[in-house]
Amino acid sequence: MTEPHIEALSPTIGARVDGVDLSRPLSDAAFAAVRAAFHRHMLLSFPAQRLDEAQQVAFSRRFGELQVHVLDQYRHPQHPQIYVLSNVDRATGRTIGHHPDKGTLTWHSDLSFQRRPALATILYGIETPTTGGETQFADMAAAYDALDDAMKRRLAGLRAIHDLDYSRQRMGEPPMPEAQRRQSPPVDHPLVRTHPDTGRKLLYISRHVSHIAEMPRDESDALLDELMAHATQPRFVFSYRWTQGDVLMWDNRSTIHRATGYDTSAERRVIHRTVVLGDVPV
Ligand code: SIN
Repeated sequence: MTEPHIEALSPTIGARVDGVDLSRPLSDAAFAAVRAAFHRHMLLSFPAQRLDEAQQVAFSRRFGELQVHVLDQYRHPQHPQIYVLSNVDRATGRTIGHHPDKGTLTWHSDLSFQRRPALATILYGIETPTTGGETQFADMAAAYDALDDAMKRRLAGLRAIHDLDYSRQRMGEPPMPEAQRRQSPPVDHPLVRTHPDTGRKLLYISRHVSHIAEMPRDESDALLDELMAHATQPRFVFSYRWTQGDVLMWDNRSTIHRATGYDTSAERRVIHRTVVLGDVPV
């Protein structure tokens, strides 16, 4: 069996992995190499894959327990662990002319609104646009390291409230139905967390954050905006341009991400997403 060939995509975030076929179980040695690359580069791209739903689920499960998303309208009908991000109507095969999940257009860390947020997200690009629809990543370890000491002292011990319904409505989605809201109450997490595998300190911010606990709202809004502007400066950001058949996998503890817009009438973008659950942030 061929060994994975790993090549960095940028000096900070991202590596391309060739020589693996994700439709088949990886050998233990290949899996160990992929996992080491994941910790080192935070984002891995596996080009030219052909996966059915069960194969994507099987590959994702190697990394841990998978999420079945509270937003059941996005769940694949036969494979509930797959979240379908698509601007193509299943019945007609035509584009719907609007973005299927506007929340993904704003900087966030997946499932940060849960007590156990995401460790990794795995996207499979079944159809990808020729222009736009990129996925951008910001390096939260580098962003934390670059804060001055006064800001690091200010953030120590602060906790932020993460709320899915809040972040969706902020992006113009309708309020979540009561049943979903009950399953997904707001949770608090530290604003600075430690990566459980690398030991690095990370800024843990996300547009799922409604406010910082026990801080006046205007002060909290100003601090969150300042931190988000700091963390998403071009020097911390890497943009991934999709090609059909790519599998993209990233670490949600050490990065935040967002999708960029595209012409949702003229272009087709069909992505299958699986999310591996992680630890409670500390
Ligand atoms: C996501 O936010 O999980 C999806 C990002 C994308 O559609 O590129």
